[in-house]
Amino acid sequence: MSHAITVLSPRDLPGCLRLAQDREWSREEDKWRLLFEVGTGYGVRDDAGELIGSAVLTRYGTEAAAVSMVLVARRHGGRGIGRALMTHVLAQAGDATVFLNATGYGRPLYEKLGFVQVGVTHTHTGHLAPTRVEPSTRPARPDDLPAIRRLDAQANGADRTDVLDRLPDFAERLHVLERHGRVTGYAGVWRNPDHAVVGPVIADDTDDAIALIVGLARETDGPLRLDLDGRHPQLRAWATQHGVTEWFTTDVMVHDGRPLPGDRERWFVPLMQALG
Ligand SMILES: CC(C)(COP(=O)(O)OP(=O)(O)OC[C@H]1O[C@@H](n2cnc3c(N)ncnc32)[C@H](O)[C@@H]1OP(=O)(O)O)[C@@H](O)C(=O)NCCC(=O)NCCS
Repeated sequence: MSHAITVLSPRDLPGCLRLAQDREWSREEDKWRLLFEVGTGYGVRDDAGELIGSAVLTRYGTEAAAVSMVLVARRHGGRGIGRALMTHVLAQAGDATVFLNATGYGRPLYEKLGFVQVGVTHTHTGHLAPTRVEPSTRPARPDDLPAIRRLDAQANGADRTDVLDRLPDFAERLHVLERHGRVTGYAGVWRNPDHAVVGPVIADDTDDAIALIVGLARETDGPLRLDLDGRHPQLRAWATQHGVTEWFTTDVMVHDGRPLPGDRERWFVPLMQALG
């Protein structure tokens, strides 16, 4: 059966939120809004015009592209809508390296379409125990933006200007770490309905990543969420010891198993799973 796929607009936001609720995903209105600004949403509707399937593709230049918000309403599951949306999104992505974070529900579909697991994201949550670390970090200023862009491009190997331009407004706060007068790391924290979500964290090493997380947490109320990249077990151990413990994991998958661009050793936490 063929499923007509249309481009979504911000007017579809209520439909997206109903779809997310149907799959017991949190009501992340600000996140959907950001994704519509930096990416393209695709949808499938039922005969009454209600959104019953979604996927968002965010392109970073021609290098890389992130897929997110792959959702099919429960009552329409297993009828090929997820496959149709993903096939469409892959065609739109052209030659870019296409990556995503897969839940257990999505993984069988992605494997059938040629995605290969290249890593694991460990989602930790909790209240960070008070802790003192060196060096201290400071709030980012507008004149730090060129350094933030440089660090982000090194770690991600792709042009994320559209996302980074919106980050100062989207994030609750951004911090940078300076060594010898040079910005060598940056991190942000933003809100979803349940947590203060720390991300991205880009740093030279685990100690600097910890310094950035602690600097942000010190000024942030409520439980934290950290989506920790599996390459850095020491950071996961530190988070666990300090009260931010593992909640669930997702699989990082790349289409055709291509290597992700960029210097991933410096990449500790994505901005969000939907964007990398
Ligand atoms: C994942 C999801 C989008 C799939 O949508 P769907 O419309 O039900 O999927 P489809 O009917 O297109 O099925 C796609 C393929 O995956 C296969 N598949 C789906 N679930 C499977 C499972 N648990 N085990 C094995 N294969 C499975 C189907 O057999 C089908 O294969 P085929 O096309 O070769 O026949 C849907 O289950 C969903 O919204 N889940 C909750 C949200 C979620 O976790 N999304 C993924 C985020 S990463």
